[in-house]
Amino acid sequence: MKIIDSLKWRYATKKFDTTKKVSSTNIELLKEAVNLTATSYGLQPYKVLIIENPEIREKLKAASWGQPQLTDAYVLFLFCNYTNVGDKEVDNYLGLRAKINNLDVSDSADYGNMMKSHMASMSPEQMKVWTSKQTYIALGTLMAAASELGIDSGPMEGFDKESFDKILGLKEKGLTASVMCALGYRSQDDSFLAFKKVRKPLEDMYEIV
Ligand SMILES: Cc1cc2nc3c(=O)[nH]c(=O)nc-3n(C[C@H](O)[C@H](O)[C@H](O)COP(=O)(O)O)c2cc1C
Repeated sequence: MKIIDSLKWRYATKKFDTTKKVSSTNIELLKEAVNLTATSYGLQPYKVLIIENPEIREKLKAASWGQPQLTDAYVLFLFCNYTNVGDKEVDNYLGLRAKINNLDVSDSADYGNMMKSHMASMSPEQMKVWTSKQTYIALGTLMAAASELGIDSGPMEGFDKESFDKILGLKEKGLTASVMCALGYRSQDDSFLAFKKVRKPLEDMYEIV
């Protein structure tokens, strides 16, 4: 499938076929696609929880206004952003960058200082917004990659983030829940299958200046 056909085919799936499994090969491809997503400075300031455990999923469903995707999808990818990114994360990134490219890490000291001063200039609230924004880019990649593989996805931010943080013990790990994606295969009974795509005309979305 070409990307436009794939994007037309995908829709925010609400009702999943509980009998269909996503192969482990495809799960690995989706993980890799998310990992290849661009992020600001390349810092990847988030972790993705792959939630399979049925008991945990029941608890999360209760904190998501009972949305059925929580328990019926084959798997959930929950994007969790780090609440604080600073010198350590910048140094880790630059160390990895130097190692992969066979560079001397000291050559990137000025770049590192620039990144560190940007991180230090953010308030705790700004930092959380900034790291959370990065997760949405990855969500887009995940949904596009899934559609290319003929896998259905349901993006979700309709959940109580504080409850998710508590259920999953995220605060202790310096994380907070950002956005989620249910993945699996559509049920042919999904009433949303009857709807056509609703999108603004391109001329309303674009302006050439
Ligand atoms: C970030 C984000 C959060 C969303 N949260 C929910 C949600 O909690 N529950 C839900 O049923 N749909 C959710 N949606 C689905 C949107 O309603 C849907 O993507 C939109 O209506 C466009 O339709 P389409 O994706 O089927 O083309 C979300 C979509 C996005 C991108």
